Amino acid sequence: MTTVALLGTGIMGAGMGHNVLAAGLDLRVWNRTAEKTRPLVDAGATGCAEPSDAVRGADVIITMLGDAGDVQAVMERAVPGLAAGQVWAQMTTVGVAPLAGLAALARTHGLVFVDAPVLGTRAPAESGRLQIFAAGPADVRDRVAPVFDAVGRQTVWLGDDGADAAASRFKLVANSWVLAITAATGETMALAKGLGVDPKEFLDAIEGGPLDLGYLRAKAAAILDGDWAPNFSAANAAKDSGLIVDAGAAAGVRLDVAAAARDRFRRASDAGHADDDMAVAYLASFLREDRT
Ligand SMILES: NC(=O)c1ccc[n+]([C@@H]2O[C@H](COP(=O)([O-])OP(=O)(O)OC[C@H]3O[C@@H](n4cnc5c(N)ncnc54)[C@H](OP(=O)(O)O)[C@@H]3O)[C@@H](O)[C@H]2O)c1
Repeated sequence: MTTVALLGTGIMGAGMGHNVLAAGLDLRVWNRTAEKTRPLVDAGATGCAEPSDAVRGADVIITMLGDAGDVQAVMERAVPGLAAGQVWAQMTTVGVAPLAGLAALARTHGLVFVDAPVLGTRAPAESGRLQIFAAGPADVRDRVAPVFDAVGRQTVWLGDDGADAAASRFKLVANSWVLAITAATGETMALAKGLGVDPKEFLDAIEGGPLDLGYLRAKAAAILDGDWAPNFSAANAAKDSGLIVDAGAAAGVRLDVAAAARDRFRRASDAGHADDDMAVAYLASFLREDRT
């Protein structure tokens, strides 16, 4: 049976862990805030006090943390439990340049590095319907398949070398769209409020036409309800838009929309909404503090 070590049981990791268990795989979990592993332990996972305990003897190690710095720090704590030949599926959104340090760490310890970011948010994570974009050696795909099939509805292989960041580059392109839509939804809803326009009339006017969009509907509904329960936190949205701007700049591509979205998500985060859903992009229109 495949043994999976899951490092990080936040919004995404928690949902993924439950689907790993539901698929009948053996699961070990570690999280910085230990109590967040409790539902998974109650469902049959083994809770671990240290990342090194979780990874010891695991066939596949999943990291689902905040950013590359978190992943680096946690995997360094895992070192005493690592063994050459283990597969490391790095699923955190880390961007392009920061991935190099993680791939180097994998090389140092003889791990097979699979760059495997995901598309999909809380609900797809909980229902095992994520899309996984992966790059890694062809000969380990069968080994990770039971894990990826448990957490995702589709795995798209984009390359043979995880260190090449092919999957992470794809992920940033996809997220540039997600974050642009979210920031624009917040801004349009804020403009409607400011101009005394009923946002529902705007939504009705575009319904079913080429300007309509499921994501606009979902985020507009959250804004209208003042429901900031996180599916994708403002802090992670700020982090990801920053990664997009940096990757674009490194490639000679100027990204004005991503930069504006990054500043909008940061403003909301700095005002105390870091852990709220990125729909708080709306609230950022009414905050005076700015940071670039
Ligand atoms: N939510 C989404 O819609 C979505 C979709 C696709 C990809 N992603 C990406 O997937 C990753 C996880 O997202 P999420 O929504 O699950 O985020 P989350 O709920 O904020 O969870 C973040 C996880 O990282 C841990 N962490 C953060 N900083 C750490 C540190 N310095 N040391 C150790 N652990 C640390 C947290 O531990 P604590 O519990 O102790 O805070 C938690 O387990 C992010 O890279 C995000 O951008 C998210």
